[in-house]
Amino acid sequence: MTEAILLVGGQGTRLRPLTSHTPKPLLPVAGVPFLAHQLARAAAAGVHRVVFATSYLAELFEPHFGDGAVFGLDLVYVTEAEPLGTGGAIRNAADHLTCGPDEPVLVLNGDILSGLDIAALRDGHRASGADVSLHLTRVADPRAFGLVPTDADGRVTAFLEKPQTPEEIVTDQINAGAYVFTRAVIDRIPAGRVVSVERETFPDLLATDAVVRGVVDDTYWLDLGTPAAFVKGSADLVRGRVSSPALPGPVGDALVLDGAFVDPLAVLSGGTVVGAGAVVGAGAVVEGSVVLPGARIAGRALVHHSVVGRHAEVGAGSRLDSVVVGDGAVVGAGNELPAGLRVGCGAVLADESVRMSAAPSTCAAAHVGARR
Ligand code: GTP
Repeated sequence: MTEAILLVGGQGTRLRPLTSHTPKPLLPVAGVPFLAHQLARAAAAGVHRVVFATSYLAELFEPHFGDGAVFGLDLVYVTEAEPLGTGGAIRNAADHLTCGPDEPVLVLNGDILSGLDIAALRDGHRASGADVSLHLTRVADPRAFGLVPTDADGRVTAFLEKPQTPEEIVTDQINAGAYVFTRAVIDRIPAGRVVSVERETFPDLLATDAVVRGVVDDTYWLDLGTPAAFVKGSADLVRGRVSSPALPGPVGDALVLDGAFVDPLAVLSGGTVVGAGAVVGAGAVVEGSVVLPGARIAGRALVHHSVVGRHAEVGAGSRLDSVVVGDGAVVGAGNELPAGLRVGCGAVLADESVRMSAAPSTCAAAHVGARR
């Protein structure tokens, strides 16, 4: 029997405008709120009780998951009046744990999709007698990450900031956002103030000779924090490149949820998801994309690697590649949106108003294109 803390209080700024009304961990990924995948995996690993550390849009979590009975879990919701950072959030949530000081507590970032063997991380932690065990993953280009080198025994030797020069790239191992803490270690994190687990808690543990174990696991790993990663993670789940007990349909090239309508002459591929109540018209091609509930994609539109927000519309013949369309936004017919464009919630792009070369990187409101 294991308890877990889920860190779900971040603002998800890199995913705006998708996160303007929905916290990142509640965004639908492969047809269900992302946390459903994490909760199902945690339950399968023998976790029985989860404390949610919430802050941003905190009130939206409990209506989704209730008491957790559907997952076979006991869920507790804790809200920070002011965001306390990752370490502060763990400390704050710990007041609601019931386990003893020597028990292992699983801590998960609420935005990591991975194939990690959670039970093995916990059991290895227990057997090793470590204070903290961290899941580490290896990345091809470590320049964008803090680095976590380990010695021959797997003990973490340092927590290094993002490398600025090639010489500073001493390892390709990075913090993968899943930890097991011995409960007493959490209780020693300062209470009631902002603490970063990466910048303060872990370095302090090394400075006091605590045993911080790095467990390199090279199974699937993805931080869903950016639009590109978000669509990739969803598509990878749909195609079975990473498994989840919470996938609401068979693995395949596309997932169409109950209540969606896809014209027989539309083409869905690359792990596309079409949410409940969404409509995809004749001749539309939707590849590797997330079409959120209630969205409408008109005939002959081409949508690649993009997210179309709740009740948003994409007009006939429009082309979107790597674009985010916010909730309720309207992209009129015949637009050609450049990669990376984010259309704000409720914004309206008039028919044929945006061509690839002329577009700004963000259409925040209706001043790009007139309301139709
Ligand atoms: P960005 O704003 O796009 O960087 O995303 P984020 O807000 O999720 O931040 P980040 O990816 O660094 O956060 C890692 C994990 O910690 C996520 O699961 C966040 O929800 C969570 N988190 C970050 N800060 C806090 C906080 O102050 N309180 C709580 N409870 N969780 C936090």
